[in-house]
Amino acid sequence: MQINIVCFSQTGNTRKVGKAMGEVFKAAGHAVRNIGFNKLIHEDFSSADLIGLGAPSFESQAPTPVREFLKDLPLLNGKKAFVFSTSGGGPGRVLYDLSKPLMIRGADVIGGFLCRGTCFHPVPCLVNRFPNRPDSRDLSRARSFAKSVLVHLSSGIPGALADSRPDAFKHGLGFYNIIGAILKDPLVRFLMPKPKADPQKCTECKWCVHECPTHSLTLNPKPEIAKTCIRCYRCMTGCPENALSVRWGISNFMVWTLYNTTFERWLGDIKPGEKLY
Ligand SMILES: Cc1cc2nc3c(=O)[nH]c(=O)nc-3n(C[C@H](O)[C@H](O)[C@H](O)COP(=O)(O)O)c2cc1C
Repeated sequence: MQINIVCFSQTGNTRKVGKAMGEVFKAAGHAVRNIGFNKLIHEDFSSADLIGLGAPSFESQAPTPVREFLKDLPLLNGKKAFVFSTSGGGPGRVLYDLSKPLMIRGADVIGGFLCRGTCFHPVPCLVNRFPNRPDSRDLSRARSFAKSVLVHLSSGIPGALADSRPDAFKHGLGFYNIIGAILKDPLVRFLMPKPKADPQKCTECKWCVHECPTHSLTLNPKPEIAKTCIRCYRCMTGCPENALSVRWGISNFMVWTLYNTTFERWLGDIKPGEKLY
């Protein structure tokens, strides 16, 4: 079987999960391609017998570039697929955002997997949430999930995997699902500050230009950020010269009101005893 594992991953967490799953498929004798989003073409979906689609949760939903890309998928009639994600807080509707476009194009989505990933969002109230995740236990769960995908496919039993996340198939009505439905790009742009470049520090290396997932950054001659910025702060957190910064002001408080530990425990999917820090 040709298995294409397609993954958007800014800081490597979701990629690790996809790789762990890919190793299981390879060990079982299948041809596996792990494809990053920057190299992805729509044919990577149509040419596979089994598609694995992964992305992190951003603002309790799938990142904008992923949602945009999935709008133009080719027909996938009857093709098997699964989705996976990592999250540093309320994952909200991310798995549903990944599986719904596949289902609309006719794919048979059999399951969804989710685990924690260290949060690299630079807003002070979230820094270093879930350190060192996904850890060996998360990756071993990812491998077990991949094994059950193979068992399920070889059994020929129709329907979903027994150990799949149910939120891969339907949009829940939980607090973070609703947050994910409300926090669309214009509102995020309004609420969250835009990074600013320090011309003294910027060496015009273009790292940020290449890394920006929405191609919103140009050098003129120093970084300028367009209106299409989705506030993922990748330019800022990864800049080799530390040349971009943000004044958080009240945004830190606003993020905290939505993604604080108490709300996450009451209204999110944090299990009793699970540590955030
Ligand atoms: C811009 C941004 C927004 C995020 N929003 C959320 C969120 O709403 N809910 C959540 O669970 N995690 C959120 N996270 C945390 C990521 O989902 C988590 O760190 C994930 O593991 C990152 O995966 P990656 O390394 O594959 O990019 C956010 C991270 C960033 C950078």
